[in-house]
Parts: sequence; structure tokens; C-alpha cells
Amino acid sequence: MLKKIPAASSAHKHVQTRIYRPTPNNLRRLANALARGELVGLPSETVYGLAADALDVTACEAIFTAKGRPHNDPLIVHIADLEQLYEIAIPSPEALNLAKTFWPGPLTLVLPKQPRVPNIVTAGLPSVAVRMPAHPLFRRLIKLSNRALAAPSANPFGYVSPTTAQHVKDGLLNRIRFILDGGPCTVGVESTIIDLRNPKHPVLLRAGGLPVEKIEKVLKRPVSLRKPSPLASSQQNQAQAAPGMLDRHYSPKTPIILHHKITGAFLKKLPTNEALLRLRKPCRLQSTVTHNTYYLSQSGDLGEIARNLFDQLRLLDHGNWEKIHVELPREKKGLAPAIKDRLMRAAAKS
Ligand code: TXA
Ligand code: MG
Repeated sequence: MLKKIPAASSAHKHVQTRIYRPTPNNLRRLANALARGELVGLPSETVYGLAADALDVTACEAIFTAKGRPHNDPLIVHIADLEQLYEIAIPSPEALNLAKTFWPGPLTLVLPKQPRVPNIVTAGLPSVAVRMPAHPLFRRLIKLSNRALAAPSANPFGYVSPTTAQHVKDGLLNRIRFILDGGPCTVGVESTIIDLRNPKHPVLLRAGGLPVEKIEKVLKRPVSLRKPSPLASSQQNQAQAAPGMLDRHYSPKTPIILHHKITGAFLKKLPTNEALLRLRKPCRLQSTVTHNTYYLSQSGDLGEIARNLFDQLRLLDHGNWEKIHVELPREKKGLAPAIKDRLMRAAAKS
């Protein structure tokens, strides 16, 4: 049984939602829809996005309405080539260096914006977040529509991000017309966001699909962590520096309890109406099979864990569990910070 997703703004129109296969005809049809100012749910390598023409204020307004997203949460603009980067942002040599090394891929750069980027996209900030996605279908729609596309994750605001076309449909049914099916996302967590407004002082705004140590190696300097702002909660109307400003995000309805270690004693006492999500399936010999234990990977590989994370959280959220216990990765590098970040936000109470 599906649990109800968070309500979006009541202002949205009731429309028929349809998933399209990526045939040449359908791609043309969806590109035309984008050019007309319509919204399209589409695959990226990280998570599915809800895209609109980034320079069309009305189209971008519709993204906020469909998601029930507050206007102080700015959007990422997606581009398909470096020429488009100059239309949207003013890149420093350091930004170009990162772009040439890691694009297309799961890296978003916050840069000074070009005047043509509307305020609705940047929440009135003088900076803009830009990314070149690696998914061929996303790039195809940017090219065919001949537009830079603003796209947040294609989920109702605050809920778990979508990694399949069906996840998008589950969350935005009757709120958007078009969803492009590109199969499951290969990365599974959102892009890493780096604030490069000051190129000599890069700041990590969100851990994500590109490990930060790889970025530091290319920049040849450390990337600092965003300092939590003591004013964050009293600044609700101001633009947020990153979604991390809200502790609760990516949240299932069922309470999530995090564990650094799963002991035998814990397993013995686990009530039958509570689920346990483990990082790695044990080999068959040592496995104590319980009906309420689920696994994020066969191998313990962080890439596999990230890929399955949101899908598993959604599946468990749709079960009738009282609580979902989740094992945290112990690694400090690679995708571990992004996985931990999403789990901590999923578990946060407010
Ligand atoms: O992987 C991803 O990044 C996915 C795919 C669809 O590209 N997109 C995504 O978008 O995760 P979203 O909207 O869920 O998260 C983007 C975050 C926003 O929450 C916002 O806080 C931050 O990027 N952001 C956008 N513009 C910014 C700006 N000018 N300065 C600081 N942060 C910004
Ligand atoms: Mg999101």
C-alpha cells in the first residue's frame, strides 16, 4: 500500500501524467514541450530531474508549484556544452578547470550569474548553480530544445529523491504531464555542489556523487565545509545556500533510526514490525535470515549502495513498518559522505 506523499501547493493544475519511452519521436515531442514552457521529468545519472526552460520565468514558476517547493530554494541550471556555460554563468579559470575535468558528471558549480538568468532560478542571489549532466537523454533534450534546463530533483519537496521514472510518477502524479524513462539512475545520489564564487576559497555545499577529495586534487587546495549558520532557522525567507540548511530533507514518512554498528544483541531484540536496512548482504553461511532485514548491496561497494539507497528507502516506506533501522557506512571517503548526509537528513526530526 502506498503512503501519501507530502501535499504540494493546491495551486497546481490537474493533468494526466504519462511515462514516455526514449524513441526519437518521443524525444522530439518532449523537446517541443520544453520549448513551449512545459515541465518534463527526465533522467540524469544522479537522480531524475524536473526540467523547464531556465530562462522562462513562468515555466520555472511551475516547477516550484509542482514540487511544493519554497521559492527561497534555488534551482540548478543544466547545460550540454561549455558555450552554454558562458550564457548562464561567469566562470573563473578554476571553475573551467573543474568543468573540463569532471563534466559531464555529478558536479554542480555555484558561480557568479549572467544577468539573463531570472531571479526565480537563483532565489534572487547574484550566483547560479550550473551542471553538465552525463546522462545522454538529458543532454539530448537540452540540445533538441536548444535551451539550458533548470531542474531540481523530481520529487515533492522534502521527500526521497527519485531514481526511476516510476518514482517520479508516484510523487508527481497529475501534477506534470511528461516523464521520460531512461531506466534507473547509475549514481543514485545528487551531484556534489561546490561554491566557487571565490575561486581561491572553494566551499562544499552538498556532498554528492563526485567525491570531494577528487575535486581537491584538481584544484590543488582544500575544499572547506560550509559552516552551519546560527541564523539559518530565523532566515526562512532568505535564499538558502544549499538544501543542507534544512536538516530534514530526503525524508520518508516512516521514522528512520541510524546505527553505526549492528550487534547480535540488537538483531535478537529487533521487533517484527520494524525493518532493518543493512549495507551488505552477508555470505550465505553466516546469514541469519530474518523476514525484516533488507540489503543495500551484495558487495559492500559504495557505488552499489548509493545506487540502491533511495529505491530501498521508498520501498520500505511503502511497507507498514513502525520504524526503519539503517546501518551507516564507516568509510570516510568516496561516496560515503553523500550516503551518510542523505541518511542523516532522512532521519532528522525537523
Ligand atoms: O544531481 C543533482 O544535482 C540533481 C539533478 C536533477 O541534477 N538536482 C538536484 O537539485 O539535486 P535540487 O534542486 O534538489 O538541489 C539543488 C540545490 C538546491 O537545494 C540549492 O540549495 C542549491 O542546489 N543551489 C542552487 N542554486 C544555488 C546558488 N545560487 N547558491 C547556492 N546553492 C544553490
Ligand atoms: Mg532535491
